[in-house]
Amino acid sequence: MLSYRHGYHAGNAADVLKHFILTYVLDYIKKKDKSFIFIDSHAGAGKYLISDPYMQKNKEYLQGIKKILQLKNDNIFLKKYLDLIKSINFNSDLKIYPGSCYLAARSLRPNDNLHFFELHPTEFLNLKKNFKNDSRIIIENEDSYQKLSKLLPPKEKRAVILIDPSYELKDEYDQVFKMLSDCYKKFPLGVYIIWYPILKSKKAVSFALNILKRNYKNLSHIEMITDNLNSGMQGSGLFILNCPWSIEKDIKNSLEIIFDCLKKNNNVSKFTFTSNIN
Ligand SMILES: C[S@@+](CC[C@H](N)C(=O)[O-])C[C@H]1O[C@@H](n2cnc3c(N)ncnc32)[C@H](O)[C@@H]1O
Repeated sequence: MLSYRHGYHAGNAADVLKHFILTYVLDYIKKKDKSFIFIDSHAGAGKYLISDPYMQKNKEYLQGIKKILQLKNDNIFLKKYLDLIKSINFNSDLKIYPGSCYLAARSLRPNDNLHFFELHPTEFLNLKKNFKNDSRIIIENEDSYQKLSKLLPPKEKRAVILIDPSYELKDEYDQVFKMLSDCYKKFPLGVYIIWYPILKSKKAVSFALNILKRNYKNLSHIEMITDNLNSGMQGSGLFILNCPWSIEKDIKNSLEIIFDCLKKNNNVSKFTFTSNIN
């Protein structure tokens, strides 16, 4: 039985990092006119009202997106992400925090497609409600570990695939590792973004090491280490496989600004950004 609800955490430091990278990658892919598909393996509800009781429980967004929105900075990549959030909020106070699906739906063009998997029955209904009039989107109440690789290779021949589980189940690291391997085998050209929490557990530590050991080409790896998030996480990490070749030049500076801004309230002690782009 799934109990995780993303509303408890939406807009926190880990979300900011993940969603900033996602909007950067989607913008990059849109440089070519040719349509593509965005696939979200673990969709969540799509968007989160700040007034929602889940959001108000720990108010994690206060130490994440709220801080970043106060930045006075003209870094173009960061500005694009923040402008998107501001436009979703009608350039007024933050009332809605957009999750990955909502950011993608707002970023993609009329000829692009989106496919979301969400297994939790209530979150699935929320997701359906949030996207009911968008004919570009297919939403499935299915287990993405069983179904996602069946979509590949996609008819568009171009795809951004976000793998963003809650890692609630004991064997979930292994499942993610297998799903990535299966998907990559079927569609080595896809752009894959994989999020993971940094925890003390052996499984969590070996997950990142095992991905690095695969020696994937064109892999970027970002980790933000924090000392005391409410959730007990010690930070979060992202892999971007087949990332844009200019990623480091483009966003290293943006990430430094993000880390610097989040540092104080989240006790960010360290961040690393490495890539091997051929
Ligand atoms: C971390 S949240 C997703 C957050 C979202 N991607 C975002 O960035 O806004 C993970 C979601 O995956 C759902 N989930 C868990 N296991 C799943 C599975 N096997 N297939 C599809 N969805 C699953 C959970 O119900 C939860 O809503």
